Amino acid sequence: MSVDLSTDYLGIHLASPIVASASPLTGQIETLQRLEAAGVAAVVLPSLFEEEIVAEAFEAHKFRNLEVSGFAEANSYLPAVPDMPTDVDRYLSFVAHATQELSIPVIASLNGFSRGGWVRYATELVEAGASAIELNVYLMATDPAETGASVEERIVDLVYAVCNAVPVPVAVKLSPFFSALGNLADSIVGAGAKGLVLFNRFYQPDIDIDSLDIQPSLDLSTPADLRLPLRWVGVLHDRLPCSLALSGGVHSSRDVIKGLLAGADVVMSTSALLRFGPEQVREFTNGLTTWLEDNEYESVEQMRGSLSQCAVPDPDAYERSNYLKVLRHGGDRYLPRYVIADK
Ligand SMILES: Cc1cc2nc3c(=O)[nH]c(=O)nc-3n(C[C@H](O)[C@H](O)[C@H](O)COP(=O)(O)O)c2cc1C
Repeated sequence: MSVDLSTDYLGIHLASPIVASASPLTGQIETLQRLEAAGVAAVVLPSLFEEEIVAEAFEAHKFRNLEVSGFAEANSYLPAVPDMPTDVDRYLSFVAHATQELSIPVIASLNGFSRGGWVRYATELVEAGASAIELNVYLMATDPAETGASVEERIVDLVYAVCNAVPVPVAVKLSPFFSALGNLADSIVGAGAKGLVLFNRFYQPDIDIDSLDIQPSLDLSTPADLRLPLRWVGVLHDRLPCSLALSGGVHSSRDVIKGLLAGADVVMSTSALLRFGPEQVREFTNGLTTWLEDNEYESVEQMRGSLSQCAVPDPDAYERSNYLKVLRHGGDRYLPRYVIADK
């Protein structure tokens, strides 16, 4: 029996639910081609950052001002601004190159946190050939005076601006750290997003006690990191009119299967592909196919969401009852929860 692995993500038909998320692996044509050859169904390119765009716009502005306000003779020694390829230009050329070299959909990633002129670069990514935009809204709400509502409003405004700027679908990559994630997700979809990527990974800085410095740190995920996105995909499946991508902790075909059972339309991976190589995609696809056959499913579509919160007999298992069970009995294998001493 041959099983149908195809899926729809952001309205785009994909041959399978395996997508390579943004990372250095998707930032080189050679590794992109290896990912495609191993059977990945779509790729998300590394992000173009708001800061990069804004810094370059600022430099270009300074340069132009120098040109108009300086001496005419001196101006003639200045190279014209459009002749200097910038990081943004290089990113746009990379998008164009990747879309030419691959036959799978290429999703470009914009990473930012504020609504502003930089958003118009979304259009350029589409002109360069991107099939969709992934908008990574990474922000740290550190100002004690800013309310949660205002942070969320900023995000929704940004999503609205990007969705309105481009004719292709937009997915929003979110962090899990919101007090009412379901409601924010609903507002993001209301602002025009066609999909949610759950979740963005926060890299926490570390403290170096020798150099007395704050150090950036990057740890790859482990399969235990799957639980958080798994839960939220399970909770949001069939509740919002949008696609769901699970991102975080997908290291094996078992993790892929869990993500699909919870209700993901696609399952994304980075750490495992960095650790084991792009060919790990084959293990994902082969393991998924075998599992579907063994369990007599004809397609991914047929099994998707069958263990989502809406589908399971005990929906509370996704909420507080799981927490209670874990705290009341989960520790038993280490120590009894409490012991009342006999007098
Ligand atoms: C080295 C590295 C670079 C990454 N670069 C980006 C990026 O440019 N944009 C982005 O949205 N996510 C980026 N990510 C995050 C991944 O796309 C992914 O969301 C995260 O690693 C969690 O998935 P995983 O558990 O499969 O690794 C990066 C991750 C790593 C490890």
